[in-house]
Amino acid sequence: MSELIHFPEFSEIPDDLKARVPLHQREYLVNGDIRAWDGEMQEVYSPVYFKSGSDFDNLIGSYPLMGEKEAMEALDAAAVAFNKGKGEWPRMSISGRIRCMLNFVAELKKNRSDIINLLMWEIGKNRKDSEVEVDRTVDYIIDTIQAIKDLDRTSSRFTITQGVIAQVRRSPLGVVLCMGPFNYPLNETYATLIPALITGCTVIFKPPKLGVLLHQPILEAFKNSFPKGVVNTVYGDGKAVITPLMQSGRIDVLAFIGTSQVADMLKKTHPKPHRLRSILGLEAKNPAVILPDADLNVAVNECVDGALAYNGQRCTALKIIFVHESITQTFLDLFNKKISSLKCGMPWDPGVNITPLPETNKTEYLNALVQDALSKGARVVNEGGGRFDKSFFYPAVLYPVNETMRAYNEEQFGPVVPVISFKDISEPLTYIENSNYGQQASIFGSEAGLLSDLMDTLVNQVCRVNLNSKCQRGPDVLPFTGRKDSAEGTLSVSDALRGFTIRTLVAVKETEQNKEIVSEILKERMSSFLNTDFIL
Ligand code: G3H
Repeated sequence: MSELIHFPEFSEIPDDLKARVPLHQREYLVNGDIRAWDGEMQEVYSPVYFKSGSDFDNLIGSYPLMGEKEAMEALDAAAVAFNKGKGEWPRMSISGRIRCMLNFVAELKKNRSDIINLLMWEIGKNRKDSEVEVDRTVDYIIDTIQAIKDLDRTSSRFTITQGVIAQVRRSPLGVVLCMGPFNYPLNETYATLIPALITGCTVIFKPPKLGVLLHQPILEAFKNSFPKGVVNTVYGDGKAVITPLMQSGRIDVLAFIGTSQVADMLKKTHPKPHRLRSILGLEAKNPAVILPDADLNVAVNECVDGALAYNGQRCTALKIIFVHESITQTFLDLFNKKISSLKCGMPWDPGVNITPLPETNKTEYLNALVQDALSKGARVVNEGGGRFDKSFFYPAVLYPVNETMRAYNEEQFGPVVPVISFKDISEPLTYIENSNYGQQASIFGSEAGLLSDLMDTLVNQVCRVNLNSKCQRGPDVLPFTGRKDSAEGTLSVSDALRGFTIRTLVAVKETEQNKEIVSEILKERMSSFLNTDFIL
């Protein structure tokens, strides 16, 4: 049998990547200091195995395995920096915070290539997508700065109603715990961290279990750009560092992208759940529905990309495909042909699509899904589908899938594509209605009447209906959220700003004396809240 994947000799790896490992990170940022850790370390293993002598190796570094004491130090630092809203950061003008953020983004850009290399090493994301992840994050920061300016501009005027003069703004909620997912360890951590910071909150951030080292080059940028205690990092096992933080009751906002099981557990740990605000991005099982009159070239291209970009490890990935029975075989033939043209290899190989998977035992898990489906009557219908070697798994198209199979309901988060043939549109609709998830759906077809009917039904089941295209989060100015077990709160450049703030107002009875006081405050620009400044 031909070699499924070529795991390289170390000497075959490009020089810029070889130079980046091993990275044994001992630094962590707390209270404005980059401290050196001399305690226990967690080893970091890459999804990319490389030949070392006659054997394979994948150890690429290590990071601090911190405990409760360090987590509480980070919390104290963040709480002091917020100082119940009296800290320098929450009281700083928006323009002041924007200056800090511009400094940060300039420093972040200087580390672009290091971060890209570490993304490839740590999570096996291909070079192109790793570049997009960094550049998209930079754009997100710039767009967030623009959005907070817009928000501030609309808040810079007074309303006068029923004898009350008022100025309404949004004020920061307090100390935020930010945790992103392994599949977008930079972008989705920053998708909450940046809006939390710019609105005046202080932050503790814990990188995901996989995708930790890539944050190391950025620690200096945080230290140099923000007042002390505004950004603090914790590393280690969630139980050791996150549980005590939540149990303290001093976390005001939980910004977490991961599983609903972990999110529920964290929320329950907080002693005053009504005080805790949450912004959560959770699981999804986004379906594609291919109608008989769909343009099959479009549907196939979008479904392959939607199901298998970054090996299917996107929360927005298409995780189950319903195809009308009249076109199922044609669809499968084209779909499988397209998959066979995908390039498999290492993340840095030019034009590569399918790469090794970073999660421990992931290939065994995916194989178990496939074996379960096979034992219940499905087949792997694409050539070579489901073969695996170490961390690499060749995409498997399962057909026909039914409700008895694990692949029908479980979020595979990997390159397994369950396909179902349907006779009546009520079949995929019933699936969507009964699903625990409600993030997005894709519909492929051409008859406007039927499509509009479907859209009107689906918008009350999911939060984004994609017409003749795959599911996705971007453009990042659009709202990104989900129903049921898929999300809490909404992310987008502007919605995220709302998530970390609360509407607050100063209200003044319209008397002569009060008018004089307000006029003086405005004229002398005494207040950062009560003012009519227009940020340019
Ligand atoms: O993992 C979930 C991500 O939010 C998906 O984002 O659609 O841009 O890949 P994306």
